[in-house]
Amino acid sequence: MAAFYDSRIGFDQCILLVVMSIFCCVCVHGSDPPLTLDYYKEKCPNVLEIVRNEMECAVLSDPRNAALILRLHFHDCFVQGCDGSVLLDDTITLQGEKNAPNNKNSLKGFRTIDRIKNILESECPGIVSCADILTVAARDAVVLVGGPFWEVPLGRKDSKTAGYELSNTNLPTADDGLLSIISKFIYQGLSVTDMVALSGAHTIGLARCVNFRERIYGDFPITSAMNSASETYLKNLKSICPPGIGEDNKESAMDYVTPNLFDNSYYQVLLRGEGLLNSDQELYSSILGVETKKIVQKYAENPIAFFEQFSESMVKLGNITNPETYVDGEVRKNCRFANT
Ligand code: HEM
Repeated sequence: MAAFYDSRIGFDQCILLVVMSIFCCVCVHGSDPPLTLDYYKEKCPNVLEIVRNEMECAVLSDPRNAALILRLHFHDCFVQGCDGSVLLDDTITLQGEKNAPNNKNSLKGFRTIDRIKNILESECPGIVSCADILTVAARDAVVLVGGPFWEVPLGRKDSKTAGYELSNTNLPTADDGLLSIISKFIYQGLSVTDMVALSGAHTIGLARCVNFRERIYGDFPITSAMNSASETYLKNLKSICPPGIGEDNKESAMDYVTPNLFDNSYYQVLLRGEGLLNSDQELYSSILGVETKKIVQKYAENPIAFFEQFSESMVKLGNITNPETYVDGEVRKNCRFANT
């Protein structure tokens, strides 16, 4: 029964969480990143316009592109900080993150970033980092599907390395229980409120059957109390995603009400117990989720509160850094490969 996993987590793990919350933001962040709003003002004044134009084309041609870029940015920042490491291809000397189990057959949107990078390299060669491109593109993605705008601090460097192993340990997964999800956010210096607000990104985009099969053949009827509308929804999900194996890559929206619109209906779906991923429904239905449940209720009622917190939390997400990248990092010429 997926949504209640956490009841098995013991006292010692709770203590560990508290200790992590005190120490881990220090170990990941080290110090505040030297990012500024006008970083490219002199060196590449049109950077924001160029990213925006390309994102407009991408999202106009397919609104899914907004979800793909937003998720790419999240997966970049949770592994070695926001350093474009997720964009690196495998080479003989480098194992990238793209084929890590949490990313394989799942992360997309790389060509959109390549297109933006190519234009920026002809406009201002060697100036704009791939990590910054991804951060701005994620903000524009949200705006273009109806979400809030926020200013993006800039000046990130690109890593020369990737974190295959860290992708396995740092990224939350669909079957994670609430405490596991919270601990992964705390490790990055993000709060429980940040976690619930950032999960609102699931108001757009799709998940694959392999990530929601256990949920729909598990506790979905319990959390949703099976009103007749939920029954129809569940039937539909089961027809997309059969039990056992097979059809693993078939997809369904996480917010089935407005899948292409960035709004607060994801939280309303959780109130009805109809969250597609176990990890989503945990925010509302876990017996350990007294605090997260209140936040879900608040955002379900108040879209402005959600938008404000989402913007603030996205800046925090974008500021996750590995201080070493500022010393060792570079501006890649091609986002897929470190410069030689
Ligand atoms: C809270 C913990 C989170 C978990 C456990 C989680 C897990 C997942 C999973 C399993 C999928 C479906 C992937 C697939 O089936 O291929 C997904 C999709 C997505 N996630 Fe998350 N996620 C979390 C937080 C976030 C955050 C913080 C963001 C961004 C700020 C985000 C943005 C997205 C987006 C936009 C999609 C849809 C991508 C698409 O359409 O392909 N997620 N997430």
